[in-house]
Amino acid sequence: MRADRSAIYPFLPGTAPLTIVGGQGSYVHTADGRRILDGGGGAVVTNIGHGRPEPAQAAAAAMTGAAYVVPVWATEYRLRLIEHLRQGWLPQGLTRCLFVSGGSESVDTAIRVARQHHVARGDVDRWKVIGREISYHGATLATLSASNHDRRRATLEPMLTDQPKADFFDAEAVRKLVETEDPSTIAALVVEPVSGASGGALVPPDDYLPGLRSICDDHGILLICDEVMTGFGRTGARFAADHVGVVPDLLVGAKGLGGGYVPIGGVFATDAVVEPIAEAELIVMYFTFSGADVACAVSDRVLTIMEDENLIERAATMGRRLAGLLEDALGDHPNVADIRGRGLLQGVELVEDRSTGAHFGGALSPKVVAEALGRDCWIYPAGSGGVPDALLFGPPFTVSDAELESLVAICAESIDAAVADLHRP
Ligand SMILES: Cc1ncc(COP(=O)(O)O)c(C=O)c1O
Repeated sequence: MRADRSAIYPFLPGTAPLTIVGGQGSYVHTADGRRILDGGGGAVVTNIGHGRPEPAQAAAAAMTGAAYVVPVWATEYRLRLIEHLRQGWLPQGLTRCLFVSGGSESVDTAIRVARQHHVARGDVDRWKVIGREISYHGATLATLSASNHDRRRATLEPMLTDQPKADFFDAEAVRKLVETEDPSTIAALVVEPVSGASGGALVPPDDYLPGLRSICDDHGILLICDEVMTGFGRTGARFAADHVGVVPDLLVGAKGLGGGYVPIGGVFATDAVVEPIAEAELIVMYFTFSGADVACAVSDRVLTIMEDENLIERAATMGRRLAGLLEDALGDHPNVADIRGRGLLQGVELVEDRSTGAHFGGALSPKVVAEALGRDCWIYPAGSGGVPDALLFGPPFTVSDAELESLVAICAESIDAAVADLHRP
């Protein structure tokens, strides 16, 4: 791409974006010859690394036949991916698969399915979706309504439904909220097992998710686990809910399902969720490009690569390594309030002063990210509400020790440079 053409991108004027022309392993390559260490895995997407030839081979094979097939029909590639997911990936009981093109579509669809499930059973008053105080579930109006990411909701509030928000850490507080809201009006509770963009890899206590499971069981509420960021190996298990032995009624995934090579998301449900909808002959409306053959074929190949190369185990091992390096470099840092996460989803919460908890109100993390980018390293900015400044680390599962070491060294330098800049008169 000619350099001057980047002036027409992006949609809104802002800082000139990098123009990426390639990538290999843990790096993306810019048009002007820089190699950027992808410490955020893009938007916490890349798992098998950049520049692999296998997805392109799978895509080419899938693109030689029918150009397009309506999502309600089966195709060889759709069936193959469903079988693969059922055999090797999905928790027991989650047998129904519906494909979409990304995370927002998957959570939005799960919310619609939850509502339709209850209506099909004659429970027409159930429409509320309980979200959580620290959360992000997508950019559609329904998913933003269930989310609490202040900057991403800003200006849209009048168009959002006022969905209740539950405590992030305390399941008993969630039970009280459910009872106050009247359980017979609640369709679903949606939860990220480990927070992503909103909280910077906050991990609730181990009894929290099982607690939510039992609240849902007691009150006929469907539990939706939003594993768009955490799913498909990112936390060192197939799904983050596996760590605490919880099986939701609806599980949604996206990012890692396609490894970044294709836009794909999935909604996975139990027979008990779907059967009433089928019996009532309701439609679950698809998106035109749901389950595109090319997306299914590439996703199938990405999952096979993760299995063949033991990449989930590697995410667990390298995640421990990254957590240790972060702790060594930043554990006592005056601007670091907390280091947390699971597997290769690690977060660093930033403050102005760790002894008082004073913070920069969201001004620090973008500055750190810009400083890191100036040092050829990409870290994903995170934070909202009570966690205004955080950094998210989500490198490819194939990342090396040396790459993690430079990621953490650059991060530490970038925090110091950004804080110095904010303190400059
Ligand atoms: C937990 C979670 N849910 C949903 C989404 C929305 O996914 P997408 O951006 O693919 O629409 C994201 C995106 O970051 C996410 O982290």
